[in-house]
Amino acid sequence: MKGIILAGGSATRLFPLSKSISKQIMPVYDKPMIYYPLSALMLAGIQEVLVISTPRDLPMFQQLLGTGDHLGMKFDYIIQEKPNGLAQAFVLGDKFIGNDSVCLILGDNIFYGQGFSGMLREAQANKTGACVFGYYVKDPRAYGVVDFDTSGKVLSIEEKPAHPKSNYAVPGLYFYDNSVVERAKRLKPSARGEYEITDLNRTYLDEEKLNVKLFGRGFAWLDTGNCDSLLEAGNFVATIQKRQGFYVSCIEEIAWRNGWINNAQLQELGKELDKTEYGHYLLSLN
Ligand code: DAU
Repeated sequence: MKGIILAGGSATRLFPLSKSISKQIMPVYDKPMIYYPLSALMLAGIQEVLVISTPRDLPMFQQLLGTGDHLGMKFDYIIQEKPNGLAQAFVLGDKFIGNDSVCLILGDNIFYGQGFSGMLREAQANKTGACVFGYYVKDPRAYGVVDFDTSGKVLSIEEKPAHPKSNYAVPGLYFYDNSVVERAKRLKPSARGEYEITDLNRTYLDEEKLNVKLFGRGFAWLDTGNCDSLLEAGNFVATIQKRQGFYVSCIEEIAWRNGWINNAQLQELGKELDKTEYGHYLLSLN
């Protein structure tokens, strides 16, 4: 399976910061925001990742993440000229995806909780249809919203409905079989002029090929859409890391635990950062 991180668009709600710097490169506590979605792909066992971003921001991601060699991974990069919608990722990523299945994650989505790796591996192993996730929120009107019956069968999926049929928001993490590329190419722009991920998901729903998995009450899906939620996400990460001593979304640690890099490589990465707490953490792992 291949992975795509969509890290473009504009972060107008973080203005004036977004005027000069990509939102997804800003730190959430002690690491760039993009490490968090990248770590989710890695936990799913995905080693080949395409980063899609704007002409201005893509070089920054290239500089930050490089070829992926140092993590035993392979990174590709593609420009999205304009934020024409999330589903465009599969048209832009056509060649990269090839004959594979694919997981898309949004560059500003942060997930944390027990059982997450298991859910990802399960979704990754399923090679037909699509899998999205549901997360109970007080007010789901700003999100995709999924409604399902007691047996878990999806009944509807709607984008930012004024009158949501359920409280289950759809986080920015999606698993698809290879037919997603052709489906994305056939989509028409929505009323707001975007190729909507929700319209793409509806093509699977119409064929009864859309699965939904629910994140439980103890699970954290964090928003980084405005200054308050960004600060709260940083505080959340700091609290967990200081209390437990385990780092949240440390990509070098995950690569090492996945067996993609060895002890010596991990030590090298730690030494490069030995003036930081982050580097000390890497050096303490083996
Ligand atoms: O966060 C989950 C939600 O993400 C889902 O529940 C919705 O169904 C989905 O449409 C999306 O809604 P948002 O309103 O959050 O999407 P937004 O336009 O803010 O884009 C999300 C991120 O993707 C943002 O960091 C910018 C980036 N992006 C967005 C578009 C439209 C791109 O890189 N390219 C794009 O074309």
